[in-house]
Parts: sequence; C-alpha cells; structure tokens
Amino acid sequence: MWLVLLAVQAFWLSLASALSGQVPLKSLEEARGYNPGEPIPVSCLNRTIDTGEHITDAAGHLQYIPFPICNETGRSLELFFGVEKDINCTIDFVTDEFFHLLEFYIHSDAPLSCRIPSKPLPPSVLENEYRVSDESTQEGALGTQSTLYTPLIIALAGTLQLSHLHVGNYLNLLVHAAPKSTSPGTVDAATAYSIASHTRNTKITIGDSLPLSFSVRWYPSTTLPPGWSGYGGHIYTSTLIYCLLSAVASAAICVVYFRGVELPRRLKRYATDRMNGGGGKFGSGGSGYGLPVANGRGGGMGGGYGLGGYGYGGGSGSGKKD
Ligand SMILES: *[C@@H]1O[C@H](CO)[C@@H](O)[C@H](O)[C@H]1NC(C)=O
Ligand SMILES: *[C@@H]1O[C@H](CO)[C@@H](O)[C@H](O)[C@H]1NC(C)=O
Ligand SMILES: *[C@@H]1O[C@H](CO)[C@@H](O)[C@H](O)[C@H]1NC(C)=O
Repeated sequence: MWLVLLAVQAFWLSLASALSGQVPLKSLEEARGYNPGEPIPVSCLNRTIDTGEHITDAAGHLQYIPFPICNETGRSLELFFGVEKDINCTIDFVTDEFFHLLEFYIHSDAPLSCRIPSKPLPPSVLENEYRVSDESTQEGALGTQSTLYTPLIIALAGTLQLSHLHVGNYLNLLVHAAPKSTSPGTVDAATAYSIASHTRNTKITIGDSLPLSFSVRWYPSTTLPPGWSGYGGHIYTSTLIYCLLSAVASAAICVVYFRGVELPRRLKRYATDRMNGGGGKFGSGGSGYGLPVANGRGGGMGGGYGLGGYGYGGGSGSGKKD
C-alpha cells in the first residue's frame, strides 16, 4: 500500500516538473537531428578586401554571411542531409571585392572558411544567425568551436596571373555524419577541395561568372571507407575469387531455374502434345502422361528432354529391364 502511494506521488511529481519550466522543451529542441534530405545552409566568414582579415565586431565576434547566391537555384548554396549528388553553383557576377577575395583564397593568404549547422538550428539562434553580436553562435576564435556548427573549409586551388585568375572550379565536398547510434541526423565534419585544378579550371576576371561544380559525398560515420584498389590492369586474388563466386552463383541459379520452371514447363508441353496429336498413334497407351514409361522408351525420351537425371530416371530404367 505504502509502495503504491509512493509510486503515484513520484509519478505526479515528475509529471509536474516536466510540464513546468522550459528546460525539457529546450533540450528537446536541441536534440532534433536532420531528417534525410533536409537542406543545410552554408555560411562563410566575411573578410576585408584589403588584407583578407576576417571581419569582427567590437566584441571580437566573427561575422558569417551566407554563401553567394547560386544562379541555378536563386538561393545561397545548400547541402541536403545524406544526399549525394553534383551541385552546380554559378556565382553570376564576380565583383571587384569578390575577385580580390578569390586572390587571397587561391594564394592561400586566407582560407574560404565556411560553416554548416551540425543540427537544425533552434529558432532562437536562427533569427540571429548572421548578427555579429549574437553570443550563442560566436563561441571560440573562429565561431566554429560552438557545438552548433561544423567548419567547412573550401580549399580552392588555382593560379594567379597579372590580370586574371584560374580557379579550379570542380570540387569534391565530403561530409561525415556522426554515427546514427550516438547522435542521429548530426553533421560531424566537412571539407571541400578543388580537383584536377591544372586541367579543369575556369579563367576569371572581374565581372565574369564563376561556375562552381560540387561533387557531394556523405559518409555515415567518421571513418573513411578504403578507396584504393589499385590502378587496375593487374589481376588480384580478390578479383579471381569474385569471378569464381559469380560463376558458382550463376550456375546455381541456372540449375534452380531449370528444375523449378523450365523442366515442369517442358514436361507439360510434352504431355499436351501427346494428348492432342498422339491419340491415334498411341491409343492403347490410355494415358498421355504415362507414355514414356509405359512404352519402355524412357531412355530415348530422357535424352531428348533432359529427364534422365531427374524424376523419370526410374521409369526409363524399369522400361529397359522389361
Ligand atoms: C562584409 O563586410 C564588409 C566590410 O565590412 C561589409 O561592407 C559587407 O556589407 C559585409 N557583407 C555582408 C553580407 O554583410
Ligand atoms: C543568371 O540568371 C540571370 C537571370 O535568371 C541571367 O540573366 C544570367 O544570364 C544568368 N547567368 C548565368 C551565368 O547563367
Ligand atoms: C553542371 O554543369 C555541367 C557543365 O556546366 C553540366 O554538364 C552538368 O550536367 C550540370 N549538373 C547538374 C547536376 O546540373
């Protein structure tokens, strides 16, 4: 009796504490991860064009601004949780300022430092996302040490000329999600880098458009899968084993198909042929199905229809003995 009363009281107390106050609500809000395919906005550090220094407010907080608008979508660059695809993002007009920033990026004087929210941002943070003075988003020297964000450095490669730039505009963009078992829907790490920048690049002067092409890949944990299986051109043991296994598998499928589908079909066809056309010739047989055995010619039939090894083997054998 006492125990039951205590249990009821404990239940009411916990219910009351759950209903009152914002704490449980807030932790719920923070706990939500991305749903598959949910858009993830990319924002980058604003920098001065004189020195490439990042721009901070009086309190030393960094200013993040949305990635430039992509002509393809009319929106700033977005990733989609768990979606692997190629994203084209053409920056329509390279302004004087942006051109100078590109010079810094390519000369590695300053990185193109971006960040993405590790989980969907709580509405309270979202309102102030790009405000310099917001405390919650600007922890740490780079503003990315806040657990709310994951840094995304876009390592643009290219070459500087006197009047123009060559920008390696084909990029790989890799994103690691935290393991689903520990924190589902959470971005853990991200990076992007130009590939084959010596051959696949675009010449940029002020006023041009910059077509960026991102090849986005997602990894469901923090480890990279092994990628190197050699250049090819050699036969590896694994390749041989694979070929052998495929051969065995296809042979097994053929046997199953023949015994399960083709054999009954042929038997049936054979039987119907005999039923329809053979009535005159084999009238004494009585039953169409019984013919191969009853005639004692099972051996011959068996050869023609591949029956020898299967159900009718016995029949033909006894036919010969008689
Ligand atoms: C980036 O900083 C420059 C220089 O302070 C400023 O003029 C510009 O408006 C900033 N960009 C954005 C999108 O706020
Ligand atoms: C970007 O879009 C605008 C209007 O939609 C168009 O006028 C312009 O030519 C486009 N630029 C590029 C580089 O495709
Ligand atoms: C991106 O652009 C390239 C060349 O401009 C084009 O071949 C490719 O189909 C585009 N990809 C997508 C996903 O739009």
